[in-house]
Amino acid sequence: MGEPLLAAVAAPVRRFDAELASLVSDMNDTMRALNGAGLAAPQIGVSLRVVVFEVTVNPRYPHVSPVPYTVLVNPELTPLGESREEGWEGCLSVPGLRGLVPRFKRLHYRGFDPYGRPIERTVEGFHARVVQHEVDHLEGILYPQRISDLRNFGFEDALAERMTPMPD
Ligand code: NI
Repeated sequence: MGEPLLAAVAAPVRRFDAELASLVSDMNDTMRALNGAGLAAPQIGVSLRVVVFEVTVNPRYPHVSPVPYTVLVNPELTPLGESREEGWEGCLSVPGLRGLVPRFKRLHYRGFDPYGRPIERTVEGFHARVVQHEVDHLEGILYPQRISDLRNFGFEDALAERMTPMPD
């Protein structure tokens, strides 16, 4: 947090080529090494519209439903309904901290896989939350900017007792 690139709007991917495959591979390695639920290309210094996410058994998010491994290039989100819910989030670019963030409960997303094949899904709960968090990175937005009450922002260990299991 504080790096200008993380506050910038990322550029669309134009070519589904070996360079993109190599970027995705670096993003996977970083996400998995740090036990992240997701990662956006700007977080490793590349200002392109690429996100990856995956939730299997994740010690940083012990109470959430699994989310399939997904690479999403040039993503577009469409919220379904106005309904939002609050949930605790962390971010590999904001280490050691957590905050309570409102997100749309349900949404439709589309984009492309690294081979240029279309992906289209309707999701809810933690899956919807992860996608919103990652796509925010492509708009230069970090989750602290979304916290509605900054009393619900702080260090992981100080907040441990207040962090309730994720709602889905
Ligand atoms: Ni993040």
